Amino acid sequence: MIRRILVTSALPYANGPIHLGHLVEYIQTDIWVRFQRSCGHEIHYVCADDAHGTAIMLKAESLNMAPEQLIQEVSADHQRDFAGFHVAFDHYHSTHSPENRHFSSLIYERNRDANHIAIRSVRQFFDPERQLFLADRFIKGQCPKCASKDQYGDSCEQCGATYGPTDLIDPYSTISGARPVLKESDHYFFRLPDFRDLLESWTRGGHLQTEVSNKLNEWFAAGLNEWDISRDAPYFGFEIPDAPGKYFYVWLDAPIGYMASFQALCQRTGMDFSQFWSPDSTTELYHFIGKDIVYFHALFWPAMLHGAGFRLPTGVFAIGFLTVSGIKMSKSRGTFIKAKTYLEHLNPDALRYYFAAKLSNHVEDIDLNLDDFVIRVNADLVGKIVNIASRCAGFMQRSFNNQLVPVADPLLTELIAAGDTLADGYEQRQFSRVVRDIMALADRVNQRIDEQKPWALAKINPADPQIAHICSLGIECFRQLITYLAPIIPQLAEASSQFLNVDNMHWNNRHHLLGEHEIRPFKALLQRIDPAQVQAMVAASCDDLTQTTNVTALSTASQAVTAAATPDYIDIDTFKRLDLRLGKIVLAEQVEGADKLLRLLVDLNEDQPRQLFAGIRHAYPDPSQLIGQLVVVVANLQPRRMKFGVSEGMVLAAGPGGADIFLLHPEAGALPGMRVQ
Ligand code: MSP
Ligand code: ZN
Repeated sequence: MIRRILVTSALPYANGPIHLGHLVEYIQTDIWVRFQRSCGHEIHYVCADDAHGTAIMLKAESLNMAPEQLIQEVSADHQRDFAGFHVAFDHYHSTHSPENRHFSSLIYERNRDANHIAIRSVRQFFDPERQLFLADRFIKGQCPKCASKDQYGDSCEQCGATYGPTDLIDPYSTISGARPVLKESDHYFFRLPDFRDLLESWTRGGHLQTEVSNKLNEWFAAGLNEWDISRDAPYFGFEIPDAPGKYFYVWLDAPIGYMASFQALCQRTGMDFSQFWSPDSTTELYHFIGKDIVYFHALFWPAMLHGAGFRLPTGVFAIGFLTVSGIKMSKSRGTFIKAKTYLEHLNPDALRYYFAAKLSNHVEDIDLNLDDFVIRVNADLVGKIVNIASRCAGFMQRSFNNQLVPVADPLLTELIAAGDTLADGYEQRQFSRVVRDIMALADRVNQRIDEQKPWALAKINPADPQIAHICSLGIECFRQLITYLAPIIPQLAEASSQFLNVDNMHWNNRHHLLGEHEIRPFKALLQRIDPAQVQAMVAASCDDLTQTTNVTALSTASQAVTAAATPDYIDIDTFKRLDLRLGKIVLAEQVEGADKLLRLLVDLNEDQPRQLFAGIRHAYPDPSQLIGQLVVVVANLQPRRMKFGVSEGMVLAAGPGGADIFLLHPEAGALPGMRVQ
């Protein structure tokens, strides 16, 4: 029976590049989709950029861009990166689209008409300077319990106390630095508790992983709350139809983006949208997501859909997070490798293979251990799989004109039969099991060739028909193995089908052997990874400072201190403790009563710019010329309280001092917050 399936991956935010952490999820989904398609099912895979919200609005502002332009540029980058990894969406859309506005309004209006929307006044902090309401993460202040400074509005990193933003002592807006004021405003709430019965039965109905539905049980026990779905202007999003000045919260219209993207696909191809979304639909709908967004997909989303008369998902599949060589990826710490950087150094199939080898259907974190990555890809893909083809192809070309002969062998029968278990593994998203089983089969094939030693036979008689037999068997087996691996390594599968001279690698074609068949001359199908490639990628992910000669540390109140000429070495570990980041100067001004100092506000792509005092006034008598310049900042220097205020880091520059102090210049492509070490 042909299944009709619609699949989505979570929509990446339009405020940053795709990194390897994101790719775990997109690669997982793409493998699953390719497998289903290979089996002949009708499957549609859609995604989009998640383009709304305060973060994107502020980012566009800081770049002096319209948000529409920012999201367009980011979307192009995202799509380029996904294509580079062969993540093959049928359609890639944006939540800032007419289709999404339509469905967001529709879902809202239907829920409102069914009485699932409440309006309540909410008292919230407001930034009087920037004239906007502040989400909790944009407010900092002193912990009400231990008085530690600069703590977020929800909890204290020093003593662990939890509280609300209004409990902070001396709160300030991290956007402007201003003291926020409390202000009332009407908010729109989605009445999630109305859906308690539906959600309890749906979340226990086999649509979720066991560990996820257990987690949900805890949330049910804690009680469901109404969900605040509105934000006041200014906000980059959709205005609520009957509420001027109120906008849908980004998470309201984000999952609706799945529908919008599919609708755009339907418009392009003539498919019928309602067949996939009506409540009586017989099609399947799956959402692949990361573990951090379960709440939205397993509670709000099904409730919203139900309230608006649409079908519910068949399954929501969550995966864990990626660590790189054991370290958590974090934007603010800059420990992430961008998709683009990876592709500049390495083959996309290698990462797809490595992730597949680690992925299960559980919500477990997975680690990309870079040493293990090199060893594993080389040993498995090159050493086991491609090796079969390369060792057999030479003999076939030299003595048999690349003409395979028909073979019948229990090993081949076994390989074909294994397809059923492997298919089950793919269906269940147990990719690590699939990979392990395929590699065990590859071992058997290599073993067989080792036992039969075609090279020894060739020494006696290169045209011995026995050689053609062994090598034809090897190549038939190679084709089976590549068919099984094809959803994981599309590029290698494509190169292999060229070599094998076959049209496709469809799952079910494995029952038809090549038999009497001419293959093409063998060309290297996959290069071994050289560890130097990985080193180069890592180096490129943390740009190097060694280029800058004569780096001078500009100590806050003091004058420039030229780097010591005597070799009083520090070791590399000491150097690594410096958190060096690129920052953009957004404000530079003279400091009253300090003739050497300038006060700088430097954007490090954090919640708010840092205030830094630098002794460079002699070199820059007109501080305004510094605005917009990029500088390297030591971001983890202990903040220092000075007469004029707190200095939160140190700016690095080069030069002998006095009037000759040189900062970095603006450079296209470099973004505030980038690590430079
Ligand atoms: N925009 C929301 C999703 C809206 S879906 C209607 C979002 N965007 S995101 O860009 O932050 O993340 C996109 C997906 O990548 C999410 O599923 C998220 O869980 C996943 N990951 C982001 N960082 C990740 C890792 N380091 N590791 C694994 N997955 C990660 O959330
Ligand atoms: Zn505290």
